[in-house]
Amino acid sequence: MIEVKSLSKSFKKVQAVDEISFNVSKGEILGLLGENGAGKTTTLRMLATMLKPTGGTAVIEGYDILKQPEMVRKEVGILFGGEVGLYDRLTAYENIMYFAELNGMKKEEATKSINYLTEMLDMKEYITRRVGKFSRGMKQKVAIARSIVHSPSVMLFDEPTIGLDVTASKIVQDFILKCKEDNKSIIFSSHSMNEVEKLCDRIVIISKGKILEEGTSDYLKKKYNNEDLEQVFMKLVGGHNE
Ligand SMILES: Nc1ncnc2c1ncn2[C@@H]1O[C@H](COP(=O)(O)OP(=O)(O)O)[C@@H](O)[C@H]1O
Ligand SMILES: [Mg+2]
Repeated sequence: MIEVKSLSKSFKKVQAVDEISFNVSKGEILGLLGENGAGKTTTLRMLATMLKPTGGTAVIEGYDILKQPEMVRKEVGILFGGEVGLYDRLTAYENIMYFAELNGMKKEEATKSINYLTEMLDMKEYITRRVGKFSRGMKQKVAIARSIVHSPSVMLFDEPTIGLDVTASKIVQDFILKCKEDNKSIIFSSHSMNEVEKLCDRIVIISKGKILEEGTSDYLKKKYNNEDLEQVFMKLVGGHNE
């Protein structure tokens, strides 16, 4: 369960996130939809305790991100899009193990988890090879395994399919659906209405750090009397930019 409560972040001149509030239940995928610069990454980095809010807070599995950041980190996995940032000179296994140990896992527990993920993500053939020469899809799987090795109950995805080809995108989308099956609370950020509509149970639309709308895609379509959610989004965000 994720409870976001008037969460805000201002950088010197920019109000990147402006008093946003929403909840995500277990087994639910919430789509965080917004254009470039809307505040998606800033929001997710605060929830993952990588960045301190300047106002409000969030509670994750009962732990406050300000008061109990170590507990929150145990419950949260985060996967970024773009360059996944692995160590080229380490093997896939070593990359995941390094991260597991950073997260306070014992070696034995981490080994068990990595073995399970190697099986689940079909990485057996290359788990002991250095990642330097891996294809994008292979790297993506290692990044996925790394994000979930500590069995978090909350998963955050920040535009995870950006720059991926169809096959690699499918791997990520299947993984997100697996997380839902496993009853995790999930936030998926994207600037693509179509992708969000396909995966998400509910959508939060943000622009300039503020929530403009929230609801299921059916609710939004009905409310704006438009079958094309991309158009609903353009209308909302366009209006807000004027
Ligand atoms: N470290 C930072 N310092 C100053 N401004 C930042 C920083 N990070 C993000 N911003 C600004 O905050 C706003 C929201 O950024 P971001 O959360 O990255 O948006 P999104 O992920 O939706 O594209 C943007 O105006 C961006 O320029
Ligand atoms: Mg971003």
